[in-house]
Amino acid sequence: MSITHRIRSLFPSEAEIPAEVRLHPPIEQRDYLLDGRLCPWDGSVEDALSPVCLRTPSGLARARIGSYPLFGEREALAALDAAVAAYANGCGRWPTLSVAARIEHVQEFARRMKNRRDEVVRLLMWEIGKSLADSQKEFDRTLDYIADTIDALKDLDRTSSRFVIHQGVIGQIRRAPLGVVLCMGPSNYPLNETFTTMIPALIMGTTVVMKCPRPGTLLHRPLLEALRDAFPPGVVNTIYGQGRAVAPPLMASGKVDVLAFIGSPGAADSLKKQHPRPHRLRCVLGLAAKNAGIILPDADLDLTVRECVLGTLSYNGQRCTALKILFVHSSILKQFLERFADAVNRVPFGMPWEKDVLVTPLPDPESVHRLEELIEDAKTHGAEIVNEAGGTSEHTYLHPAILYPVNDRMRLYAEEQWGPVIPVLPFDTVETPIQYLIHSPYGQQVSLFGSDPDTLARLIDPLVNQVCRVNLNSQCQRGPDIFPFTGRKDSAEGTLSVSDALRVFSIRTLVAAKASDLNKGIINRIVRERKSNFLSTDFIL
Ligand code: G3H
Repeated sequence: MSITHRIRSLFPSEAEIPAEVRLHPPIEQRDYLLDGRLCPWDGSVEDALSPVCLRTPSGLARARIGSYPLFGEREALAALDAAVAAYANGCGRWPTLSVAARIEHVQEFARRMKNRRDEVVRLLMWEIGKSLADSQKEFDRTLDYIADTIDALKDLDRTSSRFVIHQGVIGQIRRAPLGVVLCMGPSNYPLNETFTTMIPALIMGTTVVMKCPRPGTLLHRPLLEALRDAFPPGVVNTIYGQGRAVAPPLMASGKVDVLAFIGSPGAADSLKKQHPRPHRLRCVLGLAAKNAGIILPDADLDLTVRECVLGTLSYNGQRCTALKILFVHSSILKQFLERFADAVNRVPFGMPWEKDVLVTPLPDPESVHRLEELIEDAKTHGAEIVNEAGGTSEHTYLHPAILYPVNDRMRLYAEEQWGPVIPVLPFDTVETPIQYLIHSPYGQQVSLFGSDPDTLARLIDPLVNQVCRVNLNSQCQRGPDIFPFTGRKDSAEGTLSVSDALRVFSIRTLVAAKASDLNKGIINRIVRERKSNFLSTDFIL
């Protein structure tokens, strides 16, 4: 069957959905977590529609998978007040708890979370259209991240469990929480990227308002009981609805001490500007990117094509780390394009639960239209689609399109496409991609494909000053999570990794004393009789 035929018959009827992946009944979420209680919700709700369409007698329609609360300003502020009260200016139970005790709470949460794996994975598939394998990976990677965070904190705590004596002053230096955190994760990694900020924030003693992404809300519902039961009241509070309606009032209140936000640079800027005392606000932001692949004349083409397919098309290119533009040396352009198009023609596409599927439906028909506009604009300026059925669409599905030759008059040249549309440009000297990266508003990562160590070394040195990760013969990616994940320019603020995230939500604080007999005696008694959680030499093993 031709690719076009397969696209036309892509979506199943209800009866064709395998029993083991069905989502029945729909999840009508009518509660939310506030101050340690699951409170009933009787306000407005929003329907959650899946990227997956169903074939019905009246045509294709997005599957309705449930509904969730649509908060307004009042409810969002109530959540913030609960977090502020639990923090209690740093005097609350949670921020003053010992590190060992906070670790136990997080471990308890992870144990409870693990039990809800099947529900969350199924919801990831249905709510954001992520493949089964990637949905499982997202869940498991999040649990691994929690375990690694605990280990990193134990390490940090062990090095802080000692006194420093210098120039006649005794000091004990630890990290203390920064206050109240607003965590806003993205729709493409709604679980992982929300939790990779929220868990480090919690374990360092901050209290949290968690805004669930849209789409990406319902998959958090199975975890609400675990959050309620594992943490003291007010430590985690959830809010829902349109970010632009609920987040600005929280920021404008001046009560948010740290903004952890993954999304667009424009939205991040406007949230930061709402805060009345900008110098008090700390931010950790994961923003946009236009990561380039640079394919040199001596690149191993099998490997390069493999990595470029994964880099451009995993989860439909809806990853901030996706390869979003490919520069190919003119001398190998023809071979590369042939092999790349051939590989893209063979990419498994379909429903998220189908075996080995890489490309799946997009969130909504508007996403498809936006990408079609980008394709049309590129065609108008001289690009062609070089793979079979590239750009063919069916409701929420858009088949991957390789566009060649792309130039700087096209929107695709500079815009982050966020979908399975792949711009390819020829180059004769490496100055072309280097200048592109210098003038790009983004600075996250780059991938270099080539074999000659001299050429690669000459590229590495200027490129590490344009981006924050240079990948050799490998697609761009965030993991492993102990590596720093950050970006320059409009791509990020602050650094996330298992250990960096602990620092983002805390500040170095110390107790210091002139080394007099009086002070030595006081410190000795506090430590020996375990009178303080901060001033302590207890070692977490
Ligand atoms: O959307 C951006 C993600 O952080 C990318 O993570 O490279 O592991 O897919 P990944």
